[in-house]
Amino acid sequence: MIFLTAGESHGEALSVILSEYPAGVNIDIEFINRELFRRQLGYGRGSRMQIEADQVKILSGIKDNITTGAPIACLIYNNDFKNWVDKKQEPITNPRPGHADLSGLLKYHLSNIRDVIERSSARETAARVAAGAFAKLFLKNFDIFTFSFVEQIGNIKINQNSFKNIINKNFNHFKNKKDLEFINRIENSPIRCPDKDAESKIIDLINQVSQKGDTLGGAVKIFASGLPIGLGSYTQWDLRLDAIIAKSLISIPSVKAVLFGAGERSAELLGSEFHDEIFYERQKGFYRKTNNAGGIEGGMTNGELIEIKILVKPIPTTMKGLQTIDIKTKHKSKSFKERSDICAVPSIGVIAEAMLAIDLLNQMQKKFGMDNLEEITKNFNNYKKYINNI
Ligand SMILES: Cc1cc2nc3c(=O)[nH]c(=O)nc-3n(C[C@H](O)[C@H](O)[C@H](O)COP(=O)(O)O)c2cc1C
Repeated sequence: MIFLTAGESHGEALSVILSEYPAGVNIDIEFINRELFRRQLGYGRGSRMQIEADQVKILSGIKDNITTGAPIACLIYNNDFKNWVDKKQEPITNPRPGHADLSGLLKYHLSNIRDVIERSSARETAARVAAGAFAKLFLKNFDIFTFSFVEQIGNIKINQNSFKNIINKNFNHFKNKKDLEFINRIENSPIRCPDKDAESKIIDLINQVSQKGDTLGGAVKIFASGLPIGLGSYTQWDLRLDAIIAKSLISIPSVKAVLFGAGERSAELLGSEFHDEIFYERQKGFYRKTNNAGGIEGGMTNGELIEIKILVKPIPTTMKGLQTIDIKTKHKSKSFKERSDICAVPSIGVIAEAMLAIDLLNQMQKKFGMDNLEEITKNFNNYKKYINNI
């Protein structure tokens, strides 16, 4: 599947076109809308999220809720558009450090930073979440799931001991009660965090930082369960699955690092400590007792859980303002500010799930067929049979 997004932050609508999405997939529009809603949540988001109530409008590629294989065009209207159409505004000339403002203005020969902000704004990620929801609906047919939680905001890290055993390669919140309970813990948390103690400390921190006119970043863990061995490839540099996923995740505005498996600990562990030794049982097939590789070796899935952490920098728009230069006068100035998020880390988990799901959809299509769900399912089952009988 290829997808392209278009649309400005305060334009009439965002749009996304999905091409080469398989035919025969049941599309639950309510599910897509729920995904859009999940992106809007999160303690620390600004008031814009109270104005928007994102809903997808599907214009093509679907008949009776089933995809036909034709390109799927979607719209997500911006409620805030009506408040901006006639708004008279002075040009913005004080670029924010940490944003696209200065380089974008110079690169495109623009004179008003507003013309940069409108497209560089992370509002665009709503269109990605819609595309990701289509990918998730496809993957669900194969019991492949992506999920995420917030691991850290500012200097507060959560305690992961109480749910270490729940997260495994067969995680399936549609089939297992414990998995569903875990997902509910995350989904019911205002910061998408499964540790209640850390949650209240983080909310306090967001409040304190907000009062000081400052902002926060953090870290998110993202997972994919139910994967077959051998998605991705070692045979060409750009076919490596870890490279493909890293590109997708780092493309999310404000994500500054993507770490697989043991992450930063990879640098200090010995080979004998790091590498996930290989075991075999008739029932289980090949398996590992550890997952320091994060489910990817040699650019391919190894059948274990994909486990990734991303690091997110603090939001660049601060009410305090930062030192900048007015592009007209070249005098010292304070950076531009308007209504803004204090912390967007919880939403970034939802966007990261979407990007990961899109990559996995593409890899499934590459290995098992592009066109039609039935054909892809047959090829997938044959391959699983081959792996199981080896
Ligand atoms: C969901 C989400 C919401 C964001 N909200 C804001 C915001 O309200 N204000 C802001 O200045 N930056 C916000 N950002 C971060 C900027 O979009 C990002 O830092 C900027 O585009 C520069 O990109 P870079 O950080 O990857 O260099 C948000 C990012 C995401 C993913």
